[in-house]
Amino acid sequence: MSDWNPQSYARFTALRLRPAVDLLMRVPQLRGDSIVDLGCGNGAVGPVLRTRYPEARITGIDSSPAMLQEAWKTGVYDALAEADIATWRPDAPPDLIFSNAALHWLPHHQTLLPALVDLLAPGGTLAVQVPHQNNAPSHRLWHDLVEQLFPGRFDPRSAPGIPDARTTWALLDGLGEFALWETEYMQNLPPAEEAHPVRLFTSSTFARPVLDVLTEAEQQELCRHYDAAMEAAYPRRSDGSVLFPFRRLFYILTRVD
Ligand SMILES: C[S@@+](CC[C@H](N)C(=O)[O-])C[C@H]1O[C@@H](n2cnc3c(N)ncnc32)[C@H](O)[C@@H]1O
Repeated sequence: MSDWNPQSYARFTALRLRPAVDLLMRVPQLRGDSIVDLGCGNGAVGPVLRTRYPEARITGIDSSPAMLQEAWKTGVYDALAEADIATWRPDAPPDLIFSNAALHWLPHHQTLLPALVDLLAPGGTLAVQVPHQNNAPSHRLWHDLVEQLFPGRFDPRSAPGIPDARTTWALLDGLGEFALWETEYMQNLPPAEEAHPVRLFTSSTFARPVLDVLTEAEQQELCRHYDAAMEAAYPRRSDGSVLFPFRRLFYILTRVD
């Protein structure tokens, strides 16, 4: 897959950061000062982690060179490393693994989540936020429309996704102090001329694997249909802005040993 575009991703920084802050508010007191920002991306969460843990050693892990380059510019990480979360192993067990909007890009949560818990230091915490939006029109229609217009070209197995809340609960409950919740954010996207505001939000993230398998002309055709579908699903308000509800799943697990 092509690399991330940090500039497009950064367009909605405030809306994307809010769930990270909400997650961080629920993280209990840490026993030590070793923190990993797992799937740190362009480092949007780094300054928030640094503010809450001024003395901590904060390491950012991501597989995207373009995103890591931006993360470096924040100046708040003690270390940054390019690695695949699926195979990443820390040098020393972290006291906090914090992962905002990244783990839905990985498959096999049944094995991934318990493995991440195993990597923690005794008493360590795993704190995760992932979008739970795949059934909403903003996400589902990328898949429906690409299949309709270009049948067989896109393999839905390459799409980001998560097990539902009950399955996630069953995977982690019993491994420590555990909390899980969902929040639907009522996001107000500002007016935009060049595309429906929801396309500007989703095309730099969820739609990347879909757009990746198409030529430029095919992308334009798909985007035309997607914009029309978004006008119906998320109508513009009188000032051109759009209300875009977005569901997110959160969980925090702290080892009790
Ligand atoms: C939506 S961004 C979130 C970035 C950041 N955590 C934030 O809150 O802004 C998702 C990030 O996960 C990273 N990512 C996706 N799959 C990954 C993997 N298997 N290993 C490491 N990083 C991955 C991507 O490169 C991307 O930077």
